[in-house]
Amino acid sequence: MKKVILVCGARPNFMKVSPIIKAMAKSGKVTPYLVHTGQHYDEKMSKSFFDLLHIPKPDVDLGVGSGSHAEQTAKVMVEFEKVCQREKPDLVVVVGDVNSTMACTISAKKLWIPVAHVEAGLRSWDMQMPEEVNRVVTDALCDLFFTTDPDANANLAKMGAPASAVHYAGNVMIDTLLDNVDHSKDNPILEKMGVKPKQYCFLTMHRPSNVDDKGVLGGLLGAFDHIQKKLPIVFPAHPRTVKMIREFGYGPRFEAMTGIKVCEPLDYHQMLKLNKQSLFALTDSGGLQEETTVLGIPCITMRNNTERPVTVDVGTSEVVGNDPAKIIDAADRILAGKWKKGGTPEGWDGHAGERIVAVIEKYLQA
Ligand code: UD1
Repeated sequence: MKKVILVCGARPNFMKVSPIIKAMAKSGKVTPYLVHTGQHYDEKMSKSFFDLLHIPKPDVDLGVGSGSHAEQTAKVMVEFEKVCQREKPDLVVVVGDVNSTMACTISAKKLWIPVAHVEAGLRSWDMQMPEEVNRVVTDALCDLFFTTDPDANANLAKMGAPASAVHYAGNVMIDTLLDNVDHSKDNPILEKMGVKPKQYCFLTMHRPSNVDDKGVLGGLLGAFDHIQKKLPIVFPAHPRTVKMIREFGYGPRFEAMTGIKVCEPLDYHQMLKLNKQSLFALTDSGGLQEETTVLGIPCITMRNNTERPVTVDVGTSEVVGNDPAKIIDAADRILAGKWKKGGTPEGWDGHAGERIVAVIEKYLQA
């Protein structure tokens, strides 16, 4: 049987490999081999997703851990090269846009192993965003492209990708959401955080552009202060964000905002339940822009751009940047009931994983 290495490394990757590996197991025509690079390693950032989503234990964990971009990318490349040499896969599948995605693509291609990119073609056109570099490099090298929205297809065509290699698959992240929405229904996280359905804002924030600059982070805290006086904010904080709030000396100011209910990173079902029951989401995450769109939850995106414009054109997201006045204005509009309704993009239907595996099997003539 043909062997396919599936790569995951950081939190959003786990939700994306889950439906692919399940579809491979169901079809039984290729042998999946799961590689965890170890980019994310804390129990709450990694293992809890494997347990809840029933993802098989990785065949190998490269254990690369944290580091600068070059360090992390280089470590993944060196370790993944060894795996490819040992396992001799017929195809490598990478997902998303994290450092592990790009690193494994480069290592595999240098060994002449074909690579498929799931979530290909997304572009923010902002090269200061580390993920944009990862997306551009990955798409420049890979052989098969699976896309989530029509803009991605257009971007790949502009880049010169052969049309026969580009497949509109839909969204694997949404496969996982739809598969888990019922399982998360009775999750007690709202009681645990002391909030009521539709009476809180759901905040996530971890992008370097928002948390690594003292002035920007200070401004954002000002906006959150305004909002938390009107509505509780539930904030599962990423380790990077917690670290930067402390480093910039914002700890006491942050702790004085008693309407912000902060907690450690949550598991997938807790996140899903909090998202679904929120009045609105305030985020800089790519995944949350997509998940709120499918759940019909208003989403204020605290970024200057998005690689997922379909969540704005079709969905419930508005990109407002990190200007506190614009964030406050958007929150006030939601509180006043003035927000668009939004719809669901094509193919975000729970079956993207199956479509991807069918194309892979055909490609490998499995
Ligand atoms: C990475 C991805 C980003 C994704 C995010 C989801 C890149 C360039 N960025 O960003 O696209 O949206 O994951 O979370 O790949 N840390 C821990 N425990 C962990 C992992 C990280 O404490 O398990 C801390 C470390 O201090 C680390 C920092 O978080 O230095 C940043 O982790 P890193 O993987 O480098 O980037 P993220 O910000 O998580």
